[in-house]
Amino acid sequence: MTNDIAAAIETALQRVSDAASLDEIDAVSGETLGKKGVLGGLKASLAKIADIEERKAVGRSLNEAFASVSAAIDERRQELIAIERAAQVAGERLDLTEAMDAASRGHLHLVTQAWQELEDVFVGLGFTVAEGPEVETDWHNFEALNMSEGHPARGEFDTLFIGHDEHEDAGDSGLLLRTHTSPVQIRTMLASEPPIYIVAPGRVFRRDTPDATHMPVFHQIEGLVVDRDISMADLAGTIEAFTQAFFGKGFTSRLRPSYFPFTEPSAEFDIRRPDGSWLELGGCGMVHPEVLRAGGVDPEEWSGFAFGFGIDRMAVMRHGITDIRDMYVNDIRFIEQF
Ligand code: DAH
Repeated sequence: MTNDIAAAIETALQRVSDAASLDEIDAVSGETLGKKGVLGGLKASLAKIADIEERKAVGRSLNEAFASVSAAIDERRQELIAIERAAQVAGERLDLTEAMDAASRGHLHLVTQAWQELEDVFVGLGFTVAEGPEVETDWHNFEALNMSEGHPARGEFDTLFIGHDEHEDAGDSGLLLRTHTSPVQIRTMLASEPPIYIVAPGRVFRRDTPDATHMPVFHQIEGLVVDRDISMADLAGTIEAFTQAFFGKGFTSRLRPSYFPFTEPSAEFDIRRPDGSWLELGGCGMVHPEVLRAGGVDPEEWSGFAFGFGIDRMAVMRHGITDIRDMYVNDIRFIEQF
């Protein structure tokens, strides 16, 4: 019987190491250790051994056989679990390398690109970046910028009011969606002491029907400098430095007399392209004394200049886009071109 046990162990261990799946190892386990299994069967025949001492000895070696075979089965089972898990992981693996392909990678919106580059250029010129809220008070957006109630310039801004009912006086909250970034001038002056050198890029709103050159939501960048002895020459020099830094060496700028309520004198600034053609870019001027006062700045002591222009227009110009609406449709055939 000792020989039978040794043979059973050898066969069992061989089958254990041959088992290639969890199902197989379960089968081996049943067929060796189970009641009707090989070792189980030997256990049943113990009773036939008449000699007590011999029965004890054989019983001991049978127990050892059980222990070593079941240890081998457990060990193999752990191995097989690890192998099957690795196979499952490999099977469910997603190959995402396609998304790493530069051609199919996304990019920042054209307006965001222009916005960031404008910030970079002005930061390079020594400006810091300021912000203001998109929902503004009538006071910051108009009043403090020298456009009181009834000022004709207000009519040029097709303003979107908040909580305002055109047919009833009630419900006028005094709030609106800012029509330009100029209110940031006021907020910056109120929040800090001169000298001030800031640009304020941001989203602005007007009650316009979208067409090839207009969107009801668009973007502007505002500039404000307040310091001692600031003159129109500083303004012209800053616009010129900006033009060359942003557009490149072949570009120059000029100022043309114009009118804005918040600057005096006021100018329009144009950019001259290398081919000699001129392009109107934005408005600028010396900050009106009333505007300085509204910002808590003494116009006897300080002077300043301001400018403002559209970011969407910059993006459109640089890329030769003929319809501004194309930038907001998210048509992949358009987006992929940039
Ligand atoms: N806020 C003006 C607009 O939206 C643009 C502008 C003109 C800004 C002259 C300025 C300025 O700071 O000095 O049309």
